[in-house]
Amino acid sequence: MSASPPVRPVLPPDIKARKGGAPLVVLTAYTTPVARLVDPHCDMALVGDSLGMVLHGLPSTVGVTMEMMILHGRAVVRGLSRAMPIIDMPFGSYEEGPQQAFRNAARLMAETGAPSVKLEGGVHMADTIAFLTARGVPVMAHVGLTPQSVNTLGGYKVVGRAEEADKVMADARACEAAGAFAIVLEKVPEGLSGRITRALTIPTIGIGAGVDCDGQVLVVDDMLGLFTDFRPKFVKRYADLGKQADAAIATYAAEVRTRAFPAPEHGFPDVLKAKS
Ligand code: KIV
Repeated sequence: MSASPPVRPVLPPDIKARKGGAPLVVLTAYTTPVARLVDPHCDMALVGDSLGMVLHGLPSTVGVTMEMMILHGRAVVRGLSRAMPIIDMPFGSYEEGPQQAFRNAARLMAETGAPSVKLEGGVHMADTIAFLTARGVPVMAHVGLTPQSVNTLGGYKVVGRAEEADKVMADARACEAAGAFAIVLEKVPEGLSGRITRALTIPTIGIGAGVDCDGQVLVVDDMLGLFTDFRPKFVKRYADLGKQADAAIATYAAEVRTRAFPAPEHGFPDVLKAKS
C-alpha cells in the first residue's frame, strides 16, 4: 500500500517566492465547509473582514470585531490542509500604533492558528508593518481602495487615477520596504497595477486591478453568485448559486404546503420489514 505524501501547508515565504511565477490564486473563506472547497484549488484563503457585510449584514466592514475574526478564522483554519490562511485585522485593532497592532495580530495568530495577517494602509502603516514583521508576524498589506476607510474615501471608488497614482505607488513601495510579504491592490487602474507589480519584489494580489498582478483574489460568495442583487464590475460569476438556492427554497415551500414533502422514503416506519 502506498501512502500519499504528507501535505505541506503553504507559508508566507512560499508566497513571496512566487513573485513573477504562476499566478497566485486566492479566495475568501469564512467557514469550515467553504475552506474545504477552496483548499485544493487555492494558494491562500483570506478570512476577509468582508465577512461583516457578506455574512452578518453589516453596512460596511467598520463594525467588524476581533471576536468575529477569531471565530471565523478558527473555522477556516480547521478546513484547510494546504492553502495558507490569512486573517484580516479589523478596523480599530491596529491603527493606534505598532504595540496595539502587535498585541492584536499576535492574538489573531495564536487563537486561530493562522500564520499571517492582513491590514489596510500604505505609507502611514509602514512603521506598524515593520514592527510586526520584525517580531514574527507576516503581514500582507492592502492599498488602493481600503474599504475600512469608506467613510473618509466617500464610497467604494477606484483609487489611483491621475495624480492619485503616485500616492498609491508610494504606498505600495512603503509596504514592501517595511517587510510585507505580499500586497493586495484593490480597485486600482490596470496600468498602475502593472507598474506597481513590475516595481515591487513582492507579489501583488489584485481585486478589480486587472490581469497584470501576480495573483487574484475574489470574495467567494460573489464569484459563486450567491447574491442576486450585488454585481460589481470586477467580479466574474462562475456560478449562479443564489438563483439555484431561491428555486430550491421555493420548491421546498410549495411541497411543504401541498404535503408533497416529506414522502414515505423520508420517514421512519413503526416496524422494520423483515429481510427475506
Ligand atoms: O475583506 C476582504 O474580503 C478583502 C478582499 C476583498 C481583498 O479584503
